[in-house]
Formats: sequence, C-alpha cells, structure tokens
Amino acid sequence: MMLTVNRVERIQGRIQVPGDKSISHRAVMFASIAKGKSTIEGFLPGEDCLSTVACCRGLGIDIKQEGTFLEVQGKGQYGLQEPENLLDAGNSGTTMRLLSGILAGQSFLSVITGDGSLRKRPMARIANPLRQMGAKIDGRVGGKLAPLIIRGGNLEGIDYTLPVPSAQVKSAILLAGLYASGETIVREEFLSRDHTERMLQFFGGNLERRDGSVVLKKSELYGQSVKVPGDISSAAFFMAAAAAMPGGHLIIEDVGLNPTRTGIIDVLREMGAHIRIDNIYSSGGEDLGTVIVEGGKLKGITITKEIMPRLIDEVPVIAAISALAEGTMRITGAEELKVKESNRIAAMVTELKKLGIQAEELEDGMEITGTGRISGGVVESYGDHRIAMAMAVCGLFAQEPVQIQNSECIAVSFPGFEKTLKEITW
Ligand code: S3P
Repeated sequence: MMLTVNRVERIQGRIQVPGDKSISHRAVMFASIAKGKSTIEGFLPGEDCLSTVACCRGLGIDIKQEGTFLEVQGKGQYGLQEPENLLDAGNSGTTMRLLSGILAGQSFLSVITGDGSLRKRPMARIANPLRQMGAKIDGRVGGKLAPLIIRGGNLEGIDYTLPVPSAQVKSAILLAGLYASGETIVREEFLSRDHTERMLQFFGGNLERRDGSVVLKKSELYGQSVKVPGDISSAAFFMAAAAAMPGGHLIIEDVGLNPTRTGIIDVLREMGAHIRIDNIYSSGGEDLGTVIVEGGKLKGITITKEIMPRLIDEVPVIAAISALAEGTMRITGAEELKVKESNRIAAMVTELKKLGIQAEELEDGMEITGTGRISGGVVESYGDHRIAMAMAVCGLFAQEPVQIQNSECIAVSFPGFEKTLKEITW
C-alpha cells in the first residue's frame, strides 16, 4: 500500500488516540495468568497487540474481543496449556520478549516465532537471564534468534543489572520472577517504562521498588478491570506535527502520561514548543491527561542518552520535524534504535535525505540540520510503522507530495492513523 501525504496549511482539532501498545500487551498477558475474569477497556486492536491475544489463546486462554473491549478468563499462573502449534508474535518484540518470561515459568514446551523483522532482532538479551533463572531456551544462531524453543519450570530468582536499557528485558525477567523461588531483582541505570511494575502491583503482585531497582517475590495475580490510556507514542506524531506548524492548535485527550514515557513532551518543549497538560487523572496505576499543543518556530537541540529510555520510540518523529527547526538537531545515545522493527537510524537518515533534508548518521544517533524546506518524493517504510508515520509527518510540510511505500505496517500500532490525520489537517 502507498500512502500519499500532501502539504497542509493548518493543524487544528481535538482528538483521542488509540490505546497504549505497551499497556495493552501487558493487560492481556497479566489477565491471562491472573485468577478470574478481567476486562480491558480502550485496548489497542493493532496487529502487535492482536498477536499477543492470539498467543494467549494458543496457550488455552478464552479471550473475547469486541473492538477495543476485551474479556479475559484468567486461569491463574499455572493454568496455561501447552500450545499445540507455534506461537506467532508477528512483528511484535513486546509479545515475544514478555511472553518468553511467562513461558520460562511453564514446565511445558513452547516454540515462539515471528515475522522476518522479529526473527532478526536480538533475543539473547532475554534468553540469557531467563536461562540463569533455570529455563531451557534454544533458538537459531546459538540460541540468539527466534524461533525460540522454551521449556521452563523450577526457576530461581536472580539479581540482574540490565546491560541494555530495555523495558522488555526487565519485564521478561519480572514475569519469570512470578514463578521463581526467592527474590527476583532487576536493576537499571535509567528507569525504562515501568508499566509492568505498575500493572503487577495493580494485579496484586508482591513487588517493591527501591532506588534504581525492582524487587519481586513469587506471587499470585487476580483478575482486574483495566482502562488503557491513549498511547503517547501514537500521539507523538500529531504533537510533533502541531508543534512545528506555526498557528497549530491541537488538543489530545486521555493520553497516558506515565513519567517514563513523557520524554517527547520535554524534548518538544526544549525545542521551543508550547505544550500544556490539563485534566490529569489516574487509573489502574497510570496517569492520564489532556495534552494541548500550540505550534510555532522550533530550534534544534542536543539529546543525550539519559533521556533515551523515555523517548526511544519517538526519535523517528523528532528526526522528521528537525528538518523544520532552526539550527542542528543532534540525537545521541540512541544505539538501541538499530535493533527496533528496522534500523531506525539508517532508515530515517536515508529517507530524510530522499526528501532533500540534510541528515547524517552518527555511531549512536543522527544529526539533522534544519533548513525549513522539505521536498517531496517517494520514500520507504522498511515495514516499520514508526518510520512510515514519521515520513507522513514530513509530508504535511513538504513542497510536493510525499509517497510512503509499504505503509500498511502503520496498522501495527495505529489503525486509523490516516483518518485522524485527515481530521486535524487542512
Ligand atoms: C516496549 C519497550 C521498548 C519500546 C517498545 C515497547 C515495551 O522496547 O521500544 O516499543 O512495551 O516494553 P525495548 O524494551 O527494547 O527498549
């Protein structure tokens, strides 16, 4: 599919964005291993989260889905069944890595695989700590790549310092920790998204947070009613576009404002954007609120590794609007971008250049010099939803239309993206 995005003169409106991807995945998995019924409201029916639903069904869980509403009949921690077939995580790293943590606690055999992109992504980062806890995990290339073959059971807690900043790795270890004897401790240098910690507590898990570490003891979870906030990573495309459009005025309601995810707000503000937050409330351990963006002239800044765990998925769209900012945007400490759904550093630099933007790859990031001018052209998505949507944002400001090849991948995280884009642009 080819998405064509034309230049617009105005960005204005009041919208909501689909449910948070990270929280939707976790809600389905936690509900599956909890005792009793859970309901999930505001679930993201994107392809990634539907892969999680399919995998949990493959493990014997009854899940009813009607659009964004789910009812999950949890069978308790030891109620999962050996899957009759391969578990397919599709394009979703979160499905594969978090579910592997749960599978590590099961004495039965599971094989989990994914699409061509996911089968290239590093899995040693979860396989190694889960093996240390006692699970048997094999896979391609010496157990480093999917398909992963997992036979778990008899786990012991570990004290583990994350070698890479990754909420998926942290979460896989914590989920395995639900089945492990003794304490499971995970330490990280800069706090990555903490939805797992918050939701485990919400479902009754025995989890404590100390400075820079999480301590979990074997515990039972109980069914809950979860309301999923709007995904700030999806909102980010529109927030960034509105911020870069002089006269832009955009209101986004019910956005998740978990402080481990709000790096995009900090960065846009530092670039000179006017962003206000209103109507803050809490639900299921997560904060939500209304984000109000006023557009104007932006300037390039330097971003360093400290903020990266709170910003990682928003780097493509920041790169896109950097072309419109005054001066140079320097994004560093972002090596992890190389192992996302595509190599997002190479992908963004290559595609921005096709639109006449001055962009350069750095070892751990990229540098973009804003000229305020974006030309049109045909660009590639690399099958990566966030690259496709970042290029769509470029199209809103381009002299000629921007045509994005293989744009169907947007459905991975943001079904309805094009419709919402049309609602707020003129
Ligand atoms: C996610 C964590 C991040 C993020 C991904 C979702 C999660 O990945 O990029 O989109 O739900 O835990 P890493 O854990 O690999 O940093």
